[in-house]
Amino acid sequence: MIRDYSSTLIVQEVAPRDGLQIEPTWVETRDKIALINQLSLAGFTRIEAGSFVSPKAIPALRDGEQVFQGIQRQPGVIYVALIPNLKGAQRALAANADELNLVMSVSQTHNLANMRMRREQSLAGFGEIVAAVQGQPVSLNASVATAFGCPFEGRIDEDDVMRIVDAYLALGVQGVTLADTTGMANPRQVERMVARVLTRLPADALTLHFHNTRGLGLCNVLAAYEVGARRFDSALGGLGGCPFAPGASGNICTEDLVNLCEEVGIPTGIDLPHLLQLSRTLPALLGHELPGQVAKAGRNCDLHAAPVGLID
Ligand code: COA
Ligand code: ZN
Repeated sequence: MIRDYSSTLIVQEVAPRDGLQIEPTWVETRDKIALINQLSLAGFTRIEAGSFVSPKAIPALRDGEQVFQGIQRQPGVIYVALIPNLKGAQRALAANADELNLVMSVSQTHNLANMRMRREQSLAGFGEIVAAVQGQPVSLNASVATAFGCPFEGRIDEDDVMRIVDAYLALGVQGVTLADTTGMANPRQVERMVARVLTRLPADALTLHFHNTRGLGLCNVLAAYEVGARRFDSALGGLGGCPFAPGASGNICTEDLVNLCEEVGIPTGIDLPHLLQLSRTLPALLGHELPGQVAKAGRNCDLHAAPVGLID
């Protein structure tokens, strides 16, 4: 079978948000800004640049205002802020975020652990946010966390996910994300869910957010792309994870994803050498190695000199 890989895969870079939120080492505001400024030059059209959540919940991102106000915005790049509630939306608007990413979990247990709210309270709060941003120059995306499995509840009912997607669409959001918070998705499940959600909204309004916790992240991307998904979150170096989900680990790695796309011929518009250079600065910034593989191995085309003295 010949597959059509000609349509662009849009990568939303989430290292400044999902990536840094779980890091134990404080990253200085100026270093966050420098990272985002570099990412802005690598060809991304969307960067999740931070979150406006309780600083007690996520101390690592408590400087969201300074970050959003300090970055050099590149034309054509949408700078997204993750928010849990109306207070977060007000902070993000004041900081000139281009898009608000509202988040709740389909799993009641994970929503209580992560947001300290029941799902109904999260949804009611999102209603207030929609009313509050009327007429403001900002778009809304809404994420369904634990959409493919929950570390507390296990299997997630796919109809429950659809009910939340429908509730989001009824609120009038422009985009929806299905998030695999702790890497429990498998490619067949992904195909099924993407096909279902694409009956409700166009491909350019759906984002898939995979973590590589069980090594299936890029398999899931390809499975989703092949049934029509076109937008994916990933993090430089494979950073990331939710501090309120036991066993959470990194997002799919951006440079590994872009490398996959280059190898199979899917356009991304992203400058892979620039990303690799940037990714290789992360261990010094964060004080540990990162899970990303291509930054360590090099691209297929980064060849080595043959050993001297070979006899043919
Ligand atoms: N930004 C800054 N401060 C906030 C805030 C926000 N978006 N929302 C609430 N707060 C503050 C309140 O003002 C209050 O401050 P005070 O103690 O100085 O009076 C305090 O946080 C408690 O407010 P409350 O509404 O009772 O929140 P809570 O303690 O029940 O926590 C959330 C609810 C949603 C704010 C919190 O669980 C949260 O931020 N979760 C996000 C976690 C996250 O980012 N996970 C990873 C991404 S999915
Ligand atoms: Zn995540």
